[in-house]
Amino acid sequence: MKILYLGDIVGEATIDVLAKAIEDIKKEYKINMVLANAENVTQGKGLSQKHYKQLKTIGITAMTMGNHTFSKSEIKEYIDDASIVRPANINTNYGKGYMMINYNDKKLLLVNLMGRVFINSPLDCPFKTMDKILENNKADYVIVDIHAEATSEKKAFFYDFAGKVDAVLGTHTHVQTADEEVYNNTCYITDLGMCGPYESILGDDKDMVIERFRTGIFDRLKVAQTNEFQICGVILDLGQTNKITRINLKYKL
Ligand SMILES: [Fe+2]
Ligand SMILES: [Fe+2]
Repeated sequence: MKILYLGDIVGEATIDVLAKAIEDIKKEYKINMVLANAENVTQGKGLSQKHYKQLKTIGITAMTMGNHTFSKSEIKEYIDDASIVRPANINTNYGKGYMMINYNDKKLLLVNLMGRVFINSPLDCPFKTMDKILENNKADYVIVDIHAEATSEKKAFFYDFAGKVDAVLGTHTHVQTADEEVYNNTCYITDLGMCGPYESILGDDKDMVIERFRTGIFDRLKVAQTNEFQICGVILDLGQTNKITRINLKYKL
């Protein structure tokens, strides 16, 4: 089973680029399913229902989130019925922390968790939360999006759950790492990278970010306006022997 997993999608303009990119990647790699992290779609923070529907329309089966899950409060109105997985270790009754996806005769368990290092949020332990999820669910394949800042926490999670899940994919830093590997048949990458404006700082307007650092004044950032985009993620080939291939493409609108 071949899955394209895209890193944090930043800004609504990226949806149009992704529509084309997904078609191209599907053709080249014979992809069965597309998954993505969608925490930064609407104005760079959160996911409106309109954009959620657009992402479904362009072929994304399910989406994981992160620290910006509830940045657009309208998500509370539709998350329960949507193919959206929010971090399982957030203490809320809105939405779900994992989701079972059926593909042909296979069951795929998609899990989202947040790390706690350098993240100022009252979260349950991602490791113990994952223990419980695995205790209570049986699936043919398990994929975890670990949305975290610290590389050490992501790698610790990977080695702890290697052999128990099929893929541990890092998100949140928006910069793709070149450390993809397979250990005990578990695919890993510290960060998938982002899908968003190329000339930017993690997707945001670079001059506004520079201004923040120079002055310490935290004006609201805007997603960078550009016609060049990067599309980052991985292709997981799951079966007897799991494989991971990095995707890092440049697109012009
Ligand atoms: Fe993000
Ligand atoms: Fe994030």
